[in-house]
Amino acid sequence: MTHSTSNSNPPDEERRGLLKWSAILLGSLATAAAGIPIVGFLLGPLRKRDDQWTTAGKVEDFPVGQTRLVDLQNPLHGLGDGDAGKIAIYVRRADEATFQIFAVNCTHLGCPVNWLADAGLFMCPCHGGVFYEDGSHASGPPPRGLYQYEHRLEKGDLLVKLGHLPTLQQPG
Ligand code: FES
Repeated sequence: MTHSTSNSNPPDEERRGLLKWSAILLGSLATAAAGIPIVGFLLGPLRKRDDQWTTAGKVEDFPVGQTRLVDLQNPLHGLGDGDAGKIAIYVRRADEATFQIFAVNCTHLGCPVNWLADAGLFMCPCHGGVFYEDGSHASGPPPRGLYQYEHRLEKGDLLVKLGHLPTLQQPG
């Protein structure tokens, strides 16, 4: 009497081969998915995105002698940024034709400053930094006045050049 001693069952081998190639394929896809952010990070500096002119509002929206907080969409925002893709600025209209556009971030460690209209001062809640209404440094740890954005008036609109947040190394 003869017995077949072969353990190999062709359907099992096929299944193992299919599982092996599925694992390789899924592993490759996972590796590629994990690598995309790394590649983006490495190539990011090559993909320079310049600041862009953005409309902050109509000139008449800003009464002479007042400072107003304005929330705008950062023109450099990415998909899924949500509220992080917004940028807040203070618009000061000193007289008919003179505007100042301030970044809200304190020049010490970046906390958003508050405008106190009655006192005519910007106050930083973090370490007590104080700025005059023209953005110059009044007291406290900040090393300089508030950062200002470039701006221009065009056809009754106030345009502000926005994008990157200013820093001590790159103030404007
Ligand atoms: S962050 Fe404003 S005073 Fe420190």
